[in-house]
Amino acid sequence: MKPSINAVLVSLLLLIDVVSVCHGGGGGRGGGLSPVFYDKSCPQIDRIVRNITWSKVAENSTMAPKLLRMHYHDCFVRGCDASLLLDSTSGNPAEKEAIQNSNIRGYEVIDEIKTRLEEECPGIVSCADIVALVARDAVSYQVLTGRKDGKVSLSSEASINLPSAGANFTTLYQQFIGLGLNIIDLVALSGAHTIGVAHCAVFQRRLNVTGKGDIDPTLDPEYAEFVRTQCINPAVAVALDANSSASFDSHYFAGLRQNKGLLRSDAALLTDRRSAHIVRRFEKFPVFMTYFGNSMKKMGSIGLITREEDGGEIRKNCRVVNAN
Ligand code: HEM
Ligand SMILES: *[C@@H]1O[C@H](CO)[C@@H](O)[C@H](O)[C@H]1NC(C)=O
Ligand SMILES: *[C@@H]1O[C@H](CO)[C@@H](O)[C@H](O)[C@H]1NC(C)=O
Ligand SMILES: *[C@@H]1O[C@H](CO)[C@@H](O)[C@H](O)[C@H]1NC(C)=O
Ligand SMILES: *[C@@H]1O[C@H](CO)[C@@H](O)[C@H](O)[C@H]1NC(C)=O
Ligand SMILES: *[C@@H]1O[C@H](CO)[C@@H](O)[C@H](O)[C@H]1NC(C)=O
Repeated sequence: MKPSINAVLVSLLLLIDVVSVCHGGGGGRGGGLSPVFYDKSCPQIDRIVRNITWSKVAENSTMAPKLLRMHYHDCFVRGCDASLLLDSTSGNPAEKEAIQNSNIRGYEVIDEIKTRLEEECPGIVSCADIVALVARDAVSYQVLTGRKDGKVSLSSEASINLPSAGANFTTLYQQFIGLGLNIIDLVALSGAHTIGVAHCAVFQRRLNVTGKGDIDPTLDPEYAEFVRTQCINPAVAVALDANSSASFDSHYFAGLRQNKGLLRSDAALLTDRRSAHIVRRFEKFPVFMTYFGNSMKKMGSIGLITREEDGGEIRKNCRVVNAN
């Protein structure tokens, strides 16, 4: 059988992506991230971050998805500059306060790592890099470092820039393109939903579309019934990947193809022929993992600040801008 034009096109796109990574193009506007950034200035960094992250995840495995999601929510708003970690100041509700960030957890893990790193190598490691490294250790892929921390955090920006669970393909695509990401990144990064949970409040519309108890026709009816039995109230959290929400695998894509993607934004990936094709490719775990690592690298260099002249700093406390 001859491959369809679309299949060829997507394969080509996939190939181009791999090549650009080989040439060190991280997709970041400023470039400047490095795999060895702290090798001389803080050689213990990887050991410290991994040790604390793994011990937190070992204590409670629900931390892993939360820490991965934190990096995403930081990067999509003002770039990966730890603006998500800043506490609100008087008259300025910070990103944390945005409804999209209400279920972000793990700030105290970052604080603990920051405190350890300030003892070990004071003033060296940015909070933005800590967030990126923690996400890596929660899941395992390669990460580059060298980010500076930003000084601004606005709840209103988080509301605009973070895609909503009800978004359709067009909206998701535009939001990703707007940040320099492409359709492969959209599908690969959505694969993060192979771990963790979503609260019934964010998807319950799909179980009652018109208010007559009717389910979203794009949702598998049996799966919808199963989810409905779990959603006895909006605060209940349901696995995003019903079969294996604790393991980072490619079941998310297999479930998605059977119309068992929990969020509308997940199901939306099937409504575009190109992204639907990528979903099929990513059912193979090694393929997914390769692209996921690459897309995380691109996401991790959104809106980079690598120089103080550009408004970056190394925060002393991840929750507040340095005084000076
Ligand atoms: C494509 C657009 C995306 C949308 C609309 C979206 C939306 C959501 C929503 C609504 C939840 C449930 C939150 C809750 O109820 O507590 C969630 C959970 C999650 N998201 Fe996404 N997300 C998107 C992309 C991503 C990306 C790019 C990543 C990371 C690379 C990610 C990682 C996660 C993880 C790990 C969870 C589980 C969190 C937990 O267990 O507490 N998501 N997402
Ligand atoms: C790792 O963490 C544990 C407990 O938090 C601590 O006892 C141990 O000394 C740490 N090891 C390293 C190498 O930092
Ligand atoms: C793990 O953390 C979750 C919140 O993320 C909490 O609901 C749960 O009770 C914790 N489990 C344990 C065993 O501490
Ligand atoms: C997608 O959602 C946007 C925003 O809600 C809406 O304006 C647009 O018409 C929708 N597109 C499609 C194809 O449904
Ligand atoms: C659906 O929504 C309507 C209106 O909000 C509500 O009265 C009804 O109980 C809901 N049905 C189910 C099955 O959730
Ligand atoms: C879980 O696995 C079973 C057996 O492979 C499959 O039939 C089912 O569709 C899966 N469910 C989800 C939500 O992925």
